[in-house]
Amino acid sequence: MSNASKTRLLDWQELSQQDMIDAAADFYRQMRRRRSVRDFADRPVPMQVVEHAIATAGTAPSGANQQPWHFAVTTDPQVKTQLLEAAEQEEREFYSRRATKAWLDALAPFGTDASKPFLETAPVLIGVFMQKSSTDENGQRHKNYYPTESVGIACGLLIASLHLAGLATLAHTPSPMGFMNEIFARPGNEKPYLLLVVGYPADNCRLPDIERKTHEQIYSNVP
Ligand SMILES: Cc1cc2nc3c(=O)[nH]c(=O)nc-3n(C[C@H](O)[C@H](O)[C@H](O)COP(=O)(O)O)c2cc1C
Repeated sequence: MSNASKTRLLDWQELSQQDMIDAAADFYRQMRRRRSVRDFADRPVPMQVVEHAIATAGTAPSGANQQPWHFAVTTDPQVKTQLLEAAEQEEREFYSRRATKAWLDALAPFGTDASKPFLETAPVLIGVFMQKSSTDENGQRHKNYYPTESVGIACGLLIASLHLAGLATLAHTPSPMGFMNEIFARPGNEKPYLLLVVGYPADNCRLPDIERKTHEQIYSNVP
């Protein structure tokens, strides 16, 4: 018999079947409006929205409850310029040398290139870091379990929360992202996971004309 300490499930809300269906349908209706934005307005956003969204990300499930994430936020124009310069340097290498033809072909519909002006224009940048290992109370370092999956789920909650609060985002992954540790002053056991760009869409914001897979393509029901 396990002697793990247990607690009661608090705050559980049982819904009627109709309310369950309505809640799921409503969330889908809200989320299907989400798009990645690459043209941002420069006006500031309420920082409490960002703080609540990060708190929401911190509610994500994680392997062995290790919560292997850190969210470093900046609104500082100088820090944003440093991030832009470092990201564009990596992106120039990527587009001119590192990317395979297949990768460039996959990116063609988005019309993206090495220029990332949104890193200066958008009011908020969130550096998301994945903790590959943690140090326990005895100073012992141990590996974290499933950090990639855990941080991915946390980022999903973060993006959903910001979207529902009326903000646009872009998950940006300049490759490689090692410069983020230095600029955000994060330790070496944390791997940069993505740079989340947050703000309002610019008035003239244009989006790639792409489609999502159909329900039938992403769903199967094994009898
Ligand atoms: C892990 C990940 C990395 C991404 N990296 C970039 C990126 O570096 N630059 C970019 O412009 N978009 C990036 N995107 C955005 C995708 O291109 C976008 O989500 C996809 O085309 C679908 O469009 P939508 O988000 O508007 O539905 C990334 C998205 C994810 C999930």
